[in-house]
Amino acid sequence: MFSTAFLDIPPLIGVGGTVVLPGSKSISNRVLLLSALSAGSTTLHDLLDSDDTRVMLDALRALGCGVRQSGSTVVIDGLAGQLGHRQAALFMGNAGTAIRPLTAALAVLGGDFELRGVPRMHERPIGDLVDALRQIGCHIDYLGQDGFPPLRIGQPRLTLEAPIRVRGDVSSQFLTALLMALPLVAATHDIVIEVVGELISRPYIEITLNLLARFGVRVVRDGWQRFTIPAASQFQSPGTLHVEADASSASYFIAAGAIATGARGLDLGVCQNYLRIEGVGADSIQGDIRFIQAAQMMGAQVQSGPNWLQVSRGSWPLKAIDLDCNHIPDAAMTLGLMALYAQGSTTLRNIASWRVKETDRIAAMACELRKLGATVEEGADFIRVTPPATAADWRAASIHTYDDHRMAMCFSLAAFNPAALPVRIVDPKCVAKTFPDYFEALFSLAQTSTSAIPVLCVDGPTASGKGTLAGVLAKTLGYHLLDSGSLYRITALAAAQAGLALEPAHEQAIADLIPALSIRFSQDQVFLNGLEVSEAIRTEEAGMKASQVSVLPKVRQALIALQHSFRQLPGLVADGRDMGTVIFPDAALKVFLTASADKRARRRYKQLISKGISATLLALRADLEARDARDTSRSIAPLRPAQDAQLLDNSDLTVEESVNLVLDWWQSKQLFSAI
Ligand code: DC
Repeated sequence: MFSTAFLDIPPLIGVGGTVVLPGSKSISNRVLLLSALSAGSTTLHDLLDSDDTRVMLDALRALGCGVRQSGSTVVIDGLAGQLGHRQAALFMGNAGTAIRPLTAALAVLGGDFELRGVPRMHERPIGDLVDALRQIGCHIDYLGQDGFPPLRIGQPRLTLEAPIRVRGDVSSQFLTALLMALPLVAATHDIVIEVVGELISRPYIEITLNLLARFGVRVVRDGWQRFTIPAASQFQSPGTLHVEADASSASYFIAAGAIATGARGLDLGVCQNYLRIEGVGADSIQGDIRFIQAAQMMGAQVQSGPNWLQVSRGSWPLKAIDLDCNHIPDAAMTLGLMALYAQGSTTLRNIASWRVKETDRIAAMACELRKLGATVEEGADFIRVTPPATAADWRAASIHTYDDHRMAMCFSLAAFNPAALPVRIVDPKCVAKTFPDYFEALFSLAQTSTSAIPVLCVDGPTASGKGTLAGVLAKTLGYHLLDSGSLYRITALAAAQAGLALEPAHEQAIADLIPALSIRFSQDQVFLNGLEVSEAIRTEEAGMKASQVSVLPKVRQALIALQHSFRQLPGLVADGRDMGTVIFPDAALKVFLTASADKRARRRYKQLISKGISATLLALRADLEARDARDTSRSIAPLRPAQDAQLLDNSDLTVEESVNLVLDWWQSKQLFSAI
């Protein structure tokens, strides 16, 4: 997951390949609660692991439910309709799919519960559900503003004879909540729920009814107005259940396939002409799967089988549409981005529910689409998007995401723009709500020309702190890190393991080892041929040996392809000697550290002493100066700043100050204005 303040997505040209999607949020949270309310254990496979499901799991634990997790499989030991703990303070984050049904279930079961969330949750309406529950004698108080969480739930005095009336025109989750909670108290009576007003987002109710049936409760539906839970209904665990992948998450990849499969790039050739999505098929029980039809209307070609979809570009440019999107409220946001690649204006109607989601999505979409150069008209319940007139009218934009996962995922699609502009996504980690690895998945499918992938090089003399600086920069930007020195260290180690002395006589033999080496970097660990070598390559001796192999031209040559292979989306910070001069001469920024020998000697001294290694300042300084002289004067890859390098004397700067300075330089080279 990218936990950086922002993520700059380079301009993308094509997509192709296969993506396996995480489980559906709507299904995951429903089956978690239903399993918890059932008797016996339920094994849930392919459950979504995200912020919203974690909120539900934590709540279930707090209520005394057994939760056993292993990977994407979770076993829930159900409560058989009897809460283990009748008092709890529950944190619901920003998960509408958790707070609404839990409120209803806890209100009918009774106890002493407090339900809170993040500030945005306290702005999302729940009054219609509370009104419905109060009608039947539930005891619920507002702890903040009337109509909104936080809530306190007490002991009910239930009367269930009369039909329960609930509004259906603000959020379908209120009806879902009642449908999932009332079977708990349907022992002796039929319970009737009547919907007041037009029921929105009906497909979500279909998911609820479908899953209730899987848990033994067969609700009788009379149109979309009246729902009857038969007397003696009881939750029964299905034993095992597989969660479908999220159909709303599929929308981003369906859109990407329609926009960018089969594209051509200068150094790419033709990209694969289809994109395959695994985990969900067109026969999904999720309403958002009907996004496929909308995408087809715009030009996508979609094939489907059991649990898979395959998408390619059909009409190009895409066709503008005018569509009632009430049946696909979440996925419809993706159509707003597809509209940027269409001819003419696209109108998405009947989307008033967007205004009460994670953010006011109509306002947010309008504001951010305009930043990209689109013309946008918005109304109470519609949005109309007209794309930039020509490629030259596109803008490089810094997209605010309003703590809304779908804003972040949708707007990544702007990176396929014809002007080849990058897109900045602010707060990319908000995707954790439903799809923590969304950007990784996108980057694994996306293709772009190598030159579009930004590189930032850092070099400098020994003990200048370049490794530390490069590491922090890579973390801050969410970029890959190439510690090129470690490749020379690994090569020296591999040569020793092969019994080769590090001499010019063995130059070819050492170079020949390189293509077969299996090197893997994982966080702070380095693996060579499957074995961890992180410690072994960090010793002073390993450094000396690296220095010996690094003067062999054939070794340097053999390492070039490996070093180039680190240049991957979304970008690279490359640390080492010839990064800016030989390996990535087109790097956007090259930083050369120039701390004085005295300062560097003091830093190294502190480092050694803190590790309990004895040293003297004078000797260290003399050693560094000798190494500088040798490194600067060597004929192969001498220590020398690239001509276009920015010099940074960090003698009197903290790491943080150096990082901020370099980030300012980096920002000044970007096309977007400050975030
Ligand atoms: O940065 P380091 O201490 O891990 O580097 C080990 C040796 O490899 C050092 O002598 C410099 C050399 N080196 C090189 O010649 N070219 C690079 N790109 C990186 C390191």
